[in-house]
Amino acid sequence: MNYKEAVQYLKERCGAQPEFAIVLGSGLSSLADLIEDKIVIPYDEIPGFVQSTVKGHKGNLIFGNLSGRRVVCQQGRFHYYEGWTLEEVTFPVRVFAKLGVKYYLATNAAGSLNVKLQPGQIVLLEDHINFIGENPLHGPNKEEFGIRFPSLHEAYDIQLREIVKKSAIANDIPIEEGVYVAVAGPSFETKAECRMFATLGADVVGMSTVPGVIVAIHSGLKVIAMSVVTNMSNIFHSNAHTHEDVQKAAELAKENLEKLISQILIDID
Ligand code: HPA
Repeated sequence: MNYKEAVQYLKERCGAQPEFAIVLGSGLSSLADLIEDKIVIPYDEIPGFVQSTVKGHKGNLIFGNLSGRRVVCQQGRFHYYEGWTLEEVTFPVRVFAKLGVKYYLATNAAGSLNVKLQPGQIVLLEDHINFIGENPLHGPNKEEFGIRFPSLHEAYDIQLREIVKKSAIANDIPIEEGVYVAVAGPSFETKAECRMFATLGADVVGMSTVPGVIVAIHSGLKVIAMSVVTNMSNIFHSNAHTHEDVQKAAELAKENLEKLISQILIDID
């Protein structure tokens, strides 16, 4: 895919180089309202960007300042379940890397596999399990970004995680660490699948984030990711949850997440 055209186009429109890329998950897009001196660029104006097709997922890149730092915010992401290839899904991450971004901060809505993580809880990802069944680095290695066999040993940067935990404590925001398992979706998991994921060591489950994180690591970015628990997975109850439930619960945690991200940007050197 042709990153150069998108990078060239965005360099002409985005103003000063962004340092942080922030990806806003389902129901979490209002963080973008806090960005100052905004430049909003709809995905359909950017060469090579595909369109988000999911209700509640907007489709803009927003450049501007947050907590005095230069950011680019991805308001609405692309998902594998929409039919895009993982290369298309992660195209924005490649573009961020070429724009000079250093930090990749992903958020998502997730179901809980751990009774201690209730709806509204913010979970700082310490690791992941890729259960999508594909890897976004499949195919010839993109040498201009990174090496053939990148290590995911500490994909979620340890020092940045310490900063996030301190920022959360200083602001009285409850935060827990956990392991995220990524599934392809779009159907939610069966009970047996949830039991299996919990047994494998996963705490939360979702349909995003992991492809972007893998490509961010391959491209040399430092990664932080946070889930907002929007529902208990169905090992804990017998009622099916819906996409609307997920969006409503995300609404509840949004304020804490916004406060936390604003603080993290101040606390990272
Ligand atoms: N499963 C998968 N993805 C999700 C869930 C879930 O329970 N909740 C929000 N995204």
